[in-house]
Amino acid sequence: MKAAIYPGSFDPMTYGHLDIIRRAAEIFDELTVSVLNNKGKSPLFSVEERVKILQEATKELPNVKVDSFSGLLVDYAKEKDVHVIIRGLRAITDFEYELQGAQTNRILSEGKLDTMFLTTSLEYAYLSSSSVKEIASFHGDITQFVPEFVAQLVYEKYGHTAK
Ligand code: PNS
Repeated sequence: MKAAIYPGSFDPMTYGHLDIIRRAAEIFDELTVSVLNNKGKSPLFSVEERVKILQEATKELPNVKVDSFSGLLVDYAKEKDVHVIIRGLRAITDFEYELQGAQTNRILSEGKLDTMFLTTSLEYAYLSSSSVKEIASFHGDITQFVPEFVAQLVYEKYGHTAK
C-alpha cells in the first residue's frame, strides 16, 4: 500500500490545500493530512479546531485521514511507517524553503523520507492562509478562498458576523 503524509500548519485550510489533498489522494492509497502542533507560533485556530476543519472538508474522501503531530516530521513519519511527504509548490518563492525542508528531511531520515511536490493549480497559486487571515481581519470577502463553513469560523475569530 502506498501511503503519504501531507503536513502543514493549515491555519486555516484553504482551497489551495484542498486542491493538493484531492490530487494526492488520487495518487496514493492512503493520505494522512497532519497538522503541525507548533508551540512557537500563535495560530488563529487551535490544533483541534484545524483538525476538525480538515476532517469536515475531506469527509467525502475515504482514503484521507486527518491527524496532528509535534516535533520532527521525520520522527512522525517513521512512527507511522510512511516514506513520502507531500508538499504543494505555488511559485518560485516557495521553492527555496521547500527544497531546504526536503533535503533536511532526507538527511535526517538517512535517505528514507522523500518529498513529492505537487504544483498548486493556477487558480490557487496566489493563495495563502496568511492572506486569508489578513483579508478577514479587515472584514474582506474570503469566500472565494476557503469553504463557506471555514469562512464563517474565520470571521467569528475576528469578531465579525458572516459576510
Ligand atoms: O504549512 P507550513 O507552515 O508551511 O508547514 C511547514 C511544515 C509543518 C511542513 C514544517 O514546518 C515541518 O515539517 N515542521 C516540523 C519540524 C521539522 O521536522 N523540521 C525540520 C524539517 S523543515
